[in-house]
Amino acid sequence: MNQLSSSKSQPLKGSLRVPGDKSISHRSLIMGTLAVGQSRISGLLEGEDVLDTAKAMQAMGAQIKKQGNDWLVNGVGIGGLSTPDAPLDMGNSGTGARLVMGLVATHPIRATFVGDASLSSRPMKRVTDPLSLFGAEFEGNEGMTLPLTLTGTADPLPIEYEVPVASAQVKSAVLLAALNTPGRTTVTERTPTRDHTENMFAHFGVDITIEALDHGNAIHVTGQPELTAKDMVVPTDPSSAAFPTVAALITPGSEIIIENVGMNPSRTGLYTTLQDMGAHIRFINQRVECGESVADIQVKYSPLKGITVPEDRAASMIDEYPVLCAAAAFAEGDTIMRGLHELRVKESDRIAVMVKGLKSCGVTVKEHEDGMTITGQKSQKGGALIKTHLDHRIAMSFLILGLATEEAVRVDDGRVIETSFPGFTKLMNNLGANIRGANIRGANIKGER
Ligand code: S3P
Repeated sequence: MNQLSSSKSQPLKGSLRVPGDKSISHRSLIMGTLAVGQSRISGLLEGEDVLDTAKAMQAMGAQIKKQGNDWLVNGVGIGGLSTPDAPLDMGNSGTGARLVMGLVATHPIRATFVGDASLSSRPMKRVTDPLSLFGAEFEGNEGMTLPLTLTGTADPLPIEYEVPVASAQVKSAVLLAALNTPGRTTVTERTPTRDHTENMFAHFGVDITIEALDHGNAIHVTGQPELTAKDMVVPTDPSSAAFPTVAALITPGSEIIIENVGMNPSRTGLYTTLQDMGAHIRFINQRVECGESVADIQVKYSPLKGITVPEDRAASMIDEYPVLCAAAAFAEGDTIMRGLHELRVKESDRIAVMVKGLKSCGVTVKEHEDGMTITGQKSQKGGALIKTHLDHRIAMSFLILGLATEEAVRVDDGRVIETSFPGFTKLMNNLGANIRGANIRGANIKGER
């Protein structure tokens, strides 16, 4: 195991750039595969999750290679995917597995999807249900978890589907299946979720309309367009920027700038929440690049106060609750987080795992079926070894917590961070953080900075 340990840090100072956005990176590889010609992707996240999606695209006919800092994808066109020779190993990634299933569902090919222990325990019925309506067939266990074998249909039928949970992955699986389906498919979501698939479709010229409803959106897509290659620029990931943001807020004397962060409003709920808690966070140099808003974020250490996080903000910060817990531990009073059933089916049951880990660090926390309440205070003990359950965001969140606790916090497996944030330890330590470990790319040996 690659244990990492973080301990009380000097003030964090300087500027940094976090890696590319994970959601947009998956989608850029998939869209490049569906286009004819060569697409160039700049800023791709080279994390394991995304590289697994790249391998799946290659296994179905795309040619993908790195050139300098960019990635080049030679696509096969919509309808042009070929049957992979071996099972598609989606590693740790729910996004990769669900989006690629959407793609395969409306191609006349057969593919088996496998993943690691975390992914193999996550619910897939949420995508197999709507994809079956197109005519796709699934073989696997009754619980519809990986491994699953998907036989895509040669004659897909357009569908009208209301997504039953707030999930961009489910919405996107249906939208991707719709691309190779003649006629118009409509997906309705009651709670708006991240809209990167819709943005990417528009960028490639797909006939897509987003109709605002009283609650949520109806998204209409006309299938079987001819897509031609496009260049794509991936902004950096606001979900990764969340870690140095919270680190600077809880480490006295800190002041940092995180450059060029994606600011799509469907992703920025954490920053609003932290500002509501009293955080000094400023967005500077705001601009739009390739259809996505970006800004540099200035963060200064701030005494925080607990708040009730509005439930209707959950979708825009769903991946950020673990690191919000680290901020809440040092915020005076109660931080109440509810409406978070979805957190129980992420890479781990993030409510149970956070509650257990926080308690072992001496933090006062109460578990609810749909969230938790953390009673914060200026000083927290720390001093625990945390089980990360193959969950990158659990690992990083506890390492951030440990920068401000009295005693060091250790995580049992730092390797899993590579799925979304390669170089995390090195970037944090360059700011002045004190995270140590061995046998992991980017980790520092004792004393090294
Ligand atoms: C993602 C959607 C979210 C998020 C995940 C990435 C995406 O999952 O948690 O990390 O790229 O579409 P859900 O769709 O399950 O909410």
